[in-house]
Amino acid sequence: MKKSVLVTGGAGYIGSHTVKALLDAGYDVHVLDNLASGAREAVDSRAKFTKLDVYQKEELRNYFRNNRIDAVLH
Ligand SMILES: NC(=O)c1ccc[n+]([C@@H]2O[C@H](COP(=O)([O-])OP(=O)(O)OC[C@H]3O[C@@H](n4cnc5c(N)ncnc54)[C@H](O)[C@@H]3O)[C@@H](O)[C@H]2O)c1
Repeated sequence: MKKSVLVTGGAGYIGSHTVKALLDAGYDVHVLDNLASGAREAVDSRAKFTKLDVYQKEELRNYFRNNRIDAVLH
């Protein structure tokens, strides 16, 4: 099974390039971003995007309950 990596801020400048590099390296990639400054279109279509603010603790807990995440890049 592929390892899954969550990239927070994955719709931003550094995050979107990181997402693409991880996908090209064979990882299953999840993205969390509140789109405060990032753009949904910047996220590679192969990634699993969720609009979420990482300061929303309860939503973040639910996210980790519902998704298998092996590593986080913040
Ligand atoms: N760009 C650079 O050259 C550079 C250099 C060194 C360090 N950094 C650091 O790297 C990080 C990313 O930089 P960047 O240039 O990609 O910035 P960016 O603004 O392009 O990306 C940040 C992303 O985080 C998202 N975000 C912000 N607050 C959030 C929250 N509470 N919950 C979810 N998503 C949230 C934004 O919507 C955006 O998509 C920053 O911490 C920056 O200080 C950047």
